[in-house]
Amino acid sequence: MRVCSLAASAKINLHLEILGNRPDGYHELAMVMQSIGLADEIEIRSLSTDTIRVHCSHPDVPTDDRNLAYRAAALIVEEFPSIAQYGGVEITIQKHIPVAAGLAGGSTNAAAVLVGLNLLWKLGLTQTDLQALGAKLGSDVPFCITGGTMLATGRGEQVSPLPDVSQLYVVLAKYRHLAVSTAWAYKTYRQQFGHTYPTPESAHRQPHTSAQSGPIVSALAKFAQNNAASDTLQLGQLLYNDLEKVVLPAHPLVQHLRDELYRQPTLGAMMSGSGPTVFALTQSLIQAQQVQAALKVALPDPDLDSWIAPFTNTSIRVIRHD
Ligand code: C5P
Repeated sequence: MRVCSLAASAKINLHLEILGNRPDGYHELAMVMQSIGLADEIEIRSLSTDTIRVHCSHPDVPTDDRNLAYRAAALIVEEFPSIAQYGGVEITIQKHIPVAAGLAGGSTNAAAVLVGLNLLWKLGLTQTDLQALGAKLGSDVPFCITGGTMLATGRGEQVSPLPDVSQLYVVLAKYRHLAVSTAWAYKTYRQQFGHTYPTPESAHRQPHTSAQSGPIVSALAKFAQNNAASDTLQLGQLLYNDLEKVVLPAHPLVQHLRDELYRQPTLGAMMSGSGPTVFALTQSLIQAQQVQAALKVALPDPDLDSWIAPFTNTSIRVIRHD
């Protein structure tokens, strides 16, 4: 029996800017994505029979073909029919990343399955090959293959590395009962703000370099070079997320949570992706612990979960392979 165990990291968006509608129904984006040390554990085990089986520790996560990890395995089988000789796989997901939270939990699980099956079945695929396969599964999957700090453009699937700033920390907070559908968030944004795009028909052709992401990309580069506290302050001030404009008014609790985190002594606070997770950026673990403790006092709600995670410069980590 052959097994591969991996850790699959969550991400946050330091910048998420919607540039326009795309003809394929998606939105043209400019994002700065960051991997964080909050990770699911994925175990992939060879099966002698020709089946894909998924188990997940979280009761709300489907284990059939609605699960992105399942779809990742099915995609590999479809692309490489000759691997049928190896049999199938059993995938076990130990969930630590909250579900439907704007942290790419499903995408990172799919990325881990692509990376794991590449090893298990000795497919010899490069990172670029894996990213191309990942793009077929979801817009965030190519980022999750490599991780770290990246600029993501197109519908989010075109990624290029940015300087490593992995010495920072985040405090994440999310109401357990709240989930936001990414499709709903983008659709609502299009309805409410679609008219504000620079040129509605050609917005999808806008080069991302003209977007507002320029200043935060420069701030990241400056911080990576000098490691100066003043640069982290600037980074915190430049956090940006267009989807806050639709998710916060629809969920006053999330607005309140964001306001509370914003009041704390942090570098900045923002919703991640389509939410409803909110994060605060801190310079150190101690500062993160102080913010988390203060948040528990300010909002003593048993439904409010919080986590502390460092920035990391990788996304998928192979723990065991035999
Ligand atoms: O690509 P993914 O399946 O993760 O996207 C989830 C949903 O988010 C899509 O079905 C789409 O409605 C929306 N989306 C979008 N524009 C993007 C990325 C996602 O409209 N660039």
